[in-house]
Formats: sequence, structure tokens, C-alpha cells
Amino acid sequence: MKRLLVVAALVALPLPAFAQTGAQTAAPPTAQMIDTGRTLFNDKSLSGGAQISCATCHPMNGHTDNKTYVGLEIVPDGDPRGRSTPTMWGAGTRQAEWSWAGNIASIETNIRGIIVNRMKGTEPSKETLAALAAYMKSLPNGPAPLLNNDGMPRDNAPADVKRGYDLFAGKAGCMTCHVPASYDKKGPEDVGSGGAFKVPSLRNVSKTGPYFHDGRFKSLDEAVTFMWDFYRKKNDSKDTLSDADKRDIVAFLRTL
Ligand code: HEC
Ligand code: HEC
Repeated sequence: MKRLLVVAALVALPLPAFAQTGAQTAAPPTAQMIDTGRTLFNDKSLSGGAQISCATCHPMNGHTDNKTYVGLEIVPDGDPRGRSTPTMWGAGTRQAEWSWAGNIASIETNIRGIIVNRMKGTEPSKETLAALAAYMKSLPNGPAPLLNNDGMPRDNAPADVKRGYDLFAGKAGCMTCHVPASYDKKGPEDVGSGGAFKVPSLRNVSKTGPYFHDGRFKSLDEAVTFMWDFYRKKNDSKDTLSDADKRDIVAFLRTL
């Protein structure tokens, strides 16, 4: 019995070890690996019962179905147990750790957890995880014609967008956490939303609602108001944001 346990522990070990170092040690993904990953992403046989693929919840090449889940069950937005589906667009350019909890360092570890726990699939091979990770990281952000490569608005952006950016980077304090060009950062933060959560990337954000880990906010206006109230109280700021200021910030967010 004891011996069996030791063997089991040894067998269980290589996976997390691989997953944590995989990003540094794996050869750069080839086009073929990315193709394999795309095929697997659409393959229902990864799930127990073969009913559901990654693309079921992340349709349109790794985007989001805008729903909130517990496991495979859709729950009402805002259910504290629920987690809203994040987009994978731009996944290769982000700074934050993976999952809403923001505490998973490697994307391979995260994907393994999704296959085994959420999808009730069998243990995936190293190659399957590497191919899925390569495909995820190959996905570009959506088009953002008003942004420079560094994530700042272009000179030809409308005035409200530029004002919104100046507020975001200035007195509204948003950029202390949402850092360009991906508009996220490493390390979870407790913003009074029910625990510590990752600072999510705001790229593509006009298309990723409902917002926050549990999908509690339908609109960007609500999310911005919540964030500003948090920042203002935390920093004892005497600054105020008018409704027009908040509209400008939303106009800026929509260009991301
Ligand atoms: C039932 C819907 C569903 C399916 C199927 C699904 N996902 Fe997700 N995915 C989610 C939800 C919900 C989250 C957020 C979970 C959390 O963070 O607690 C998520 C998070 C992720 C993340 C982390 C993103 C981030 O920004 O932190 C990755 C990567 C991911 N999924 C890839 C995949 C892959 C690859 C598959 C297929 C093997 C898959 N997903 C299948 C719903 C789904
Ligand atoms: C202290 C760090 C911090 C600051 C400052 C901050 N945010 Fe956030 N932001 C977060 C975290 C953490 C979340 C996720 C909370 C959750 O999921 O419960 C978040 C979520 C969001 C979301 C929802 C994104 C999504 O995909 O669900 C938007 C929009 C947003 N923030 C905008 C802003 C704006 C605008 C400001 C400035 C007024 C701001 N944030 C300031 C940490 C911060």
C-alpha cells in the first residue's frame, strides 16, 4: 500500500514540474503545433462524455461566449460561485497569471485543470497541453485601429477617447493596476469584490461582458463606477469624476 502511494506520487510529479517550466524550456511553437492546438480546441473528445469542446465556451477562435459557469452549468450572472468566461484573444501578450484567482503561473497547468476538473476529461498528455497552449498564445487581440502598439491612443483618436485615456492614466488611478499595452498586471488584488482576483486585461473589453469574476456587471459604466469608488476610498482621494468623465473613460475602454 505504502509503496503504491509512493509510485502514485512519482507518477503525479512530472506534470506540474513540466507545466511550470514548460514556458521557458519548450522549443518555440511551430505552425504545426498551433494547428494541432486549434484542432484539439474544437475536439469534444477532450471532455468526459464527448459533449463539449473548448470552443463551446470560447467560440470565435478562443473568444468568450459571454456566459457565467459553475463547472459546465450556466448560472445567473453575479452568482458568487460563478466564473465568467474570459476571452483568449491576446493571451500571448498578457502580464497577469492565469484564472480569475490569478494564482496559476503556467497556462499549461490551467488548461490541465480545465480538462480534468471542469470538462471531466481524462488526463491530457504533455503534447496535448503544449499544443493547446501554443494555439492560445498565438491568438491576436481583436482589431484596435485607434491604438498604437504600446496601447496608447493614436493622434487621430477622437477627443473623448483621449480625455478618457488621460483620466485613466491620471487622477482616476486605473493605470496603477491596468498597465499597458495589455492593461493588466502580475499579482491578484482585492478590490472589495469578494476576495483577491487577477487584474484582468482590458484589451477587447467592450466584447467580454458580463464583467468581473462572477459576471456581476452587465455594462462597462457599472464596472468603471465600481472601480473608481474603490480607488477613491482606498486612496482617500479628494478628486471627483463627473458622469461626463466616466463616459470618456468608457469611450477609451471601447477602443481597447
Ligand atoms: C464550460 C465552459 C468552458 C469550457 C468548455 C472551457 N472553458 Fe476555458 N474558461 C471558462 C471559464 C468560466 C474560465 C474562468 C475560470 C476561472 O478562472 O475560474 C475559463 C478560463 C480559461 C483560461 C484562463 C484564462 C485567463 O485569462 O486566466 C484558459 C487558458 C482557458 N479557459 C482555456 C480553455 C481551454 C484550452 C479549454 C479546452 C480544453 C477550455 N478553456 C474549455 C469556461 C470554459
Ligand atoms: C487596485 C487595482 C485596480 C485598480 C486601481 C483598478 N482596477 Fe479595474 N480591476 C481590478 C481587479 C482586481 C478587477 C477584477 C475584479 C473581479 O473580478 O472581481 C478589475 C476589473 C475591471 C474591469 C472589468 C474587466 C472584466 O473583464 O471583467 C474593468 C472594466 C476595470 N477593472 C476598469 C478599471 C478602471 C476604469 C479603473 C480606474 C477607475 C480601474 N479598473 C482601477 C483591479 C484594479
